[in-house]
Amino acid sequence: MDTKAIEGIELELLLEGIFQRYGYDFRHYSRASISRRVNHFLARSGKEKISEITSRILYDESFFQELLEDFSVAVTEMFRDPDVYLTLRREVIPFLRTYPFLKVWHAGCASGQEVYSLAIMLMEEGLYNRTTIYATDFNEGGLEKARQGIYPLNEVKGYVDNYRIAGGLESFTDYCDAHYGSVIMNKALKKNITFARHNLVSDQVFGEMHLIMCRNVLIYFDSTLQERVFKLLNDSLIRGGFLCLGRKESLRFSKIDGYYENFAESMQIYRKLPVES
Ligand SMILES: C[S@@+](CC[C@H](N)C(=O)[O-])C[C@H]1O[C@@H](n2cnc3c(N)ncnc32)[C@H](O)[C@@H]1O
Repeated sequence: MDTKAIEGIELELLLEGIFQRYGYDFRHYSRASISRRVNHFLARSGKEKISEITSRILYDESFFQELLEDFSVAVTEMFRDPDVYLTLRREVIPFLRTYPFLKVWHAGCASGQEVYSLAIMLMEEGLYNRTTIYATDFNEGGLEKARQGIYPLNEVKGYVDNYRIAGGLESFTDYCDAHYGSVIMNKALKKNITFARHNLVSDQVFGEMHLIMCRNVLIYFDSTLQERVFKLLNDSLIRGGFLCLGRKESLRFSKIDGYYENFAESMQIYRKLPVES
C-alpha cells in the first residue's frame, strides 16, 4: 500500500473519531477540500502525519475547536458577486414585495457580510421591516463576528465597489461607522436578524422561508451530502420561494431539480414551482 492510501486511512479515522467524539460529521465533505484543510492544520501545528494529532483532537476539546475553525473556510465579503445582488434586487424583490411578511434564511453565513448586504438591500427597497432573517452557520467563531458586525476598515473599499455594482441606492458608508481601523455595521440593520448555530449536515428544517441564500457552502460537500442539504433547503422553502446558490453550485442533476425553474440560471437563482408539476 502506498503512502497516499495510508494517509487516506488516517484521514478517515480522524473524521470518524471527530464524528463519534463531537458529533460533527465531516465524513461527506469533499475529500480534496478536507485534505487541504487538514494539511494546513498539520503545517500550523508543526506535525507531519494526521495520526500525530488524532489523539489530541479526541482528548483536547480546545484543540478540536481550532481544527473546526480551519474546517470552516469562512471566506466571504459584502455583496459578494454583486451582479447576483443586482439580480435579486431587480428580479426577485418584485416577487417578494407581494408577501405581507418575509422569512429569509442565510445558511452558512460565515462572519455575516452577506447577511448585512441583504439587510441593506431590503431596507432600501422598503421591505426590511416586514422581514425576519435567520442567519446560521455551524462555526460559533464566525457567528460571533457576524453578531458583532465589525469588519476591517481596509476591506471597505471593496465593499463600496461591490455595493455600487449591486445597485446600491445610497452610500455604503451610511450603513456603518468607522472605529479604530474597523467599521461597525449600524444597529438598525441587526434589528430583524437572528444569528444561530445550525449544522446543515445534522440539523433540521427551517420552516416556510421565502428566500434561502446558501452560497459557497455546497462546494465543500460530496454529492451524497449535497443531496441531503438540497432536500433540507427544499423542505424549508415555500412554493414560489427563491433559492440562491453560489456561482460554482447548481441544482442541475440534483433530485430536487424538477421542482424548480431556473429563474436566473447564470446567477444560480432558482424558483420553486408554485404548484407541483
Ligand atoms: C466560504 S463560506 C461562505 C460564506 C457566505 N455564504 C458567502 O458565500 O460568502 C462557507 C461557510 O459554510 C459554513 N459551513 C460549512 N459546513 C457547514 C455545515 N455543515 N453547516 C453549516 N455551515 C457550514 C462554514 O462554516 C463557512 O462559514
